[in-house]
Amino acid sequence: MSELPIKIKKTPHSRLSEIDFDHLTFGEQFSDHMLEVRYSEGSWRDPLILPYGQIPMYPAVSTLHYGQAVFEGMKAYQYKEDKVSIFRLDNHYDRFRRSCERVCIPEVAEDVFKEGMKALVEIDRQWVPKEKYKSLYIRPIVFASDQTLGLRASKNYRFYIICSPVGNYYSEGIKPIRLTTMPKYVRAVLGGVGDVKVPGNYAASLQPTTKAQQLGYTQVLWLDAIEHRYVEEVGSMNIFFVIGDVLVTPPLNGSILPGITRKTVLELAVKKGMTVQERPVTMQEVADFHRQGTLKEVFGAGTAAVISPVGVIHHDNYQITIGSDEMGPVARWFYDNITGIQHGEVEDPDSWCTLL
Ligand SMILES: Cc1ncc(COP(=O)(O)O)c(C=O)c1O
Repeated sequence: MSELPIKIKKTPHSRLSEIDFDHLTFGEQFSDHMLEVRYSEGSWRDPLILPYGQIPMYPAVSTLHYGQAVFEGMKAYQYKEDKVSIFRLDNHYDRFRRSCERVCIPEVAEDVFKEGMKALVEIDRQWVPKEKYKSLYIRPIVFASDQTLGLRASKNYRFYIICSPVGNYYSEGIKPIRLTTMPKYVRAVLGGVGDVKVPGNYAASLQPTTKAQQLGYTQVLWLDAIEHRYVEEVGSMNIFFVIGDVLVTPPLNGSILPGITRKTVLELAVKKGMTVQERPVTMQEVADFHRQGTLKEVFGAGTAAVISPVGVIHHDNYQITIGSDEMGPVARWFYDNITGIQHGEVEDPDSWCTLL
């Protein structure tokens, strides 16, 4: 257990019995407790685990106006021998810290983040779904809490961690999803904030994503902001192409979010002996490889969706269909191995899982 002095105020009324674990949606139900830590006068103070509930704030709180906030998305899983695993905690903390730095949020101390999260998940461990392919989604969030309309970095912040038992991210389950590019819009530009996890990125994606969905697609396939030719990523996933027997994904060029699942896929692929290329991929290439018959699979990778096959890509005046109506063998191999490691069924030689 943690060395950190975390105060704990447990709920007298657990809501666990109200949850239908057989029919979980994504991110709509929340576990009994949350972590709260406040920053003032230059330090993070008084970590507290308390019942999940409303948080008091004034309408002038600066994060509501200027969006100085950062979040993460990670998961805890039911592990063998009745343990619970948190996947790649170190990598998520590193990205969180980098995101905070980009928007002038003081670093949330490593032990506040990690020990606070472990203590919270421990208290709510009954909320980790027992069934494989379900999990407890963990959402750390930090935001500016000064009351001011002045545009400046806040002096006060609040850090929370909340948890949500989840099932599949897409309504398609693990059936192939449909992507379209949206020529009028971009997600991120070099030098901007596309490579960190700040809320504004997602707000800006809502209108194009809604339009894509009205056209019958699941998500937008984002292209580069300048030439609008290079594939970047999907709304909440990085993208992979299986071209012949080579695994190809766009490089981390500064406008793509460096996904932890992306990193996991690349590391597993190298171990498996696959040829891996992190290189720019144009839409023209995707269409050409498809026409030549060498585009074997396309899949997305992200914490929420795990591995998600892509069945259709629409761009400009063409639409390509990839594979059958099922996950392809390469995507399946990653899906089985990643979920296997997360649930303790496949060896975890690099200690990606933090066990509770
Ligand atoms: C824009 C974007 N790209 C990619 C990802 C995948 O990242 P990860 O695998 O760390 O969840 C996410 C999810 O966090 C995302 O929001």
